[in-house]
Amino acid sequence: MCGIVGAVAQREVSAILLEGLRRLEYRGYDSAGMSVISPQSGLASRKAVGKVSALASALEASPLPGTTGIAHTRWATHGQPSERNAHPHLSGDIALVHNGIIENHAALRERLEGLGYRFASETDTETIVHLIHHYYQQQRDLLGAVKHAVTDLEGAYGLAVINAEQPDRLVCARKGSPLVIGIGIGENFIASDHLALRQVTDRFAYLEEGDIAEVAPGHFRVWNADDEPVVRDVNQIDTAAESADKGQYRHFMLKEIYEQPSVIRRSLAGRLGSRKVLTEALGAKAGEILKNIENVQIVACGTSYHAGMVAKYWIEGFAGVPCRVEVASEFRYRKFKVQQNTLLVTISQSGETADTLAALRLAQTLDYAATLAICNVNQSSLVRESDLFLMTEAGPEIGVASTKAFTTQLVALILLTVAIGRYHDLDEAEEEAIVKSLHALPDLITETLSLDDDIKKMSNAFAEKHHALFLGRGVQWPVAMEGALKLKEISYIHAESYPAGELKHGPLALVDSDMPVIAVAPNDELLEKLKSNLQEVQARGGQLFVFADKAAGFEESPGLDIIAVPHVDEIIAPLIYTIPLQLLSYHVAILKGTDVDQPRNLAKSVTVE
Ligand code: G6P
Repeated sequence: MCGIVGAVAQREVSAILLEGLRRLEYRGYDSAGMSVISPQSGLASRKAVGKVSALASALEASPLPGTTGIAHTRWATHGQPSERNAHPHLSGDIALVHNGIIENHAALRERLEGLGYRFASETDTETIVHLIHHYYQQQRDLLGAVKHAVTDLEGAYGLAVINAEQPDRLVCARKGSPLVIGIGIGENFIASDHLALRQVTDRFAYLEEGDIAEVAPGHFRVWNADDEPVVRDVNQIDTAAESADKGQYRHFMLKEIYEQPSVIRRSLAGRLGSRKVLTEALGAKAGEILKNIENVQIVACGTSYHAGMVAKYWIEGFAGVPCRVEVASEFRYRKFKVQQNTLLVTISQSGETADTLAALRLAQTLDYAATLAICNVNQSSLVRESDLFLMTEAGPEIGVASTKAFTTQLVALILLTVAIGRYHDLDEAEEEAIVKSLHALPDLITETLSLDDDIKKMSNAFAEKHHALFLGRGVQWPVAMEGALKLKEISYIHAESYPAGELKHGPLALVDSDMPVIAVAPNDELLEKLKSNLQEVQARGGQLFVFADKAAGFEESPGLDIIAVPHVDEIIAPLIYTIPLQLLSYHVAILKGTDVDQPRNLAKSVTVE
């Protein structure tokens, strides 16, 4: 989703800003722009629809000299992707970039038009820059004008502003959309994600909700939501833990699929004893809080929601604790009753997903016993605002379609199941068995990845198809859901998932030779039932592709393709069966020639509703 980069330096900044935008490309966007203040010619901007490379060409043709600047990648919300809707937006000598949505933009627009402002775009963002300009006319101070303007805004923003009349500074503000200050020597930067600035610094100060900052080359100052001066901690980022390049792989997604054994090893490190899960890993307060938990409510979006769906089977099945799961965008707008002693668990790769964050904030006003975030990004809003957190340790995930973040979320959720189950239905022998399965997991994933060539061959059968149906039963149903999501996200093939027992209640009507049906079939207690469901498909001429346990007794026949998956323990089966589905969607996308890492219309981090 939208990205912001800004710089106040003593050297030319346009190349730094451009590189920052490139590093944010993975988040998804549809236009890009930049404004720089030149001491000679004042404020100038370049914009381009499409990729950052188009903006780079525009800059090559017509460079932007200057030492203070802001840049943006826009993901259209109000108004189509176009140069005039792309940021920065201007008002006189002031330029502004914005992430988020201003909900009262229509009323503000009317008010500003009444004051004589003419709008150049259809965006909600343009109201902010005119508002700042309006207040600037009264006080000739950019910081004061921004502080004044944000009090008129309803909605979410991360914003950065420059002013040609005060060329040595940048003002930024955050509410509902992240911003970080990157600290250099004699130069400072800002961005919506620290990854954008890793080429210039490894020291970062994260702004908190309601903060406004003034950033100059030699210093920066921060005020909190009550307009009191505050000092935000400076964090040094560990370079080794962050490597955001593709290495030998053609796409980030493939790299991230293959990283799963190592990142799962990392996410288990320090959390598993030889026979026990070390629940201290959830934080010092964890034991005290978890022992009183009687219910769990999980809230998440997208792939993270599917992780929550899997966890429901574990938390109820292994721990014996009632568990509800809901997508955040529904949860936050619904009336419901909070059960006694409920732990609210949010799951999010980014920790900045607007709906998940809003759900957490809502929960904090209700009667939940505690909140726990399962998240991949240290210092994200979700982590900072939760009582407990469990980091997934997947490292930066760049491909928009989530892979390693999902499987590491599942690992974290198994740890949570044990941590809660201990006070309920999980006995020591069961915990020991789970720990044994987890120790074996990374190698089993490596073994499953070796099915890649067979899966690549299988993918040929999908390249010309327009629809696909994914089936699973029990805990494998959410695995099938995640498989369908992966296929639709990156290959644009319409894919649906169903619990196989529901086949007869509708989807069977769709089955014919043009509808490939994919099933995940571990050797579990539901296997025989699943087999009957699959026969219903075969009997109707459907083409079946089954990922089945070696010992499940499936045999290839016309219309039935089998890929044998290693035999694994029940608890880790959802992780193992996810792997072939990730590989299948990847290979189908390659055949279809889509943009695997940045699929059309999608964003990595959805920071608006
Ligand atoms: C977007 C991404 C998905 C992700 C979802 C939730 O839709 O494209 O990959 O699953 O957001 O994101 P989160 O960061 O909260 O896990």
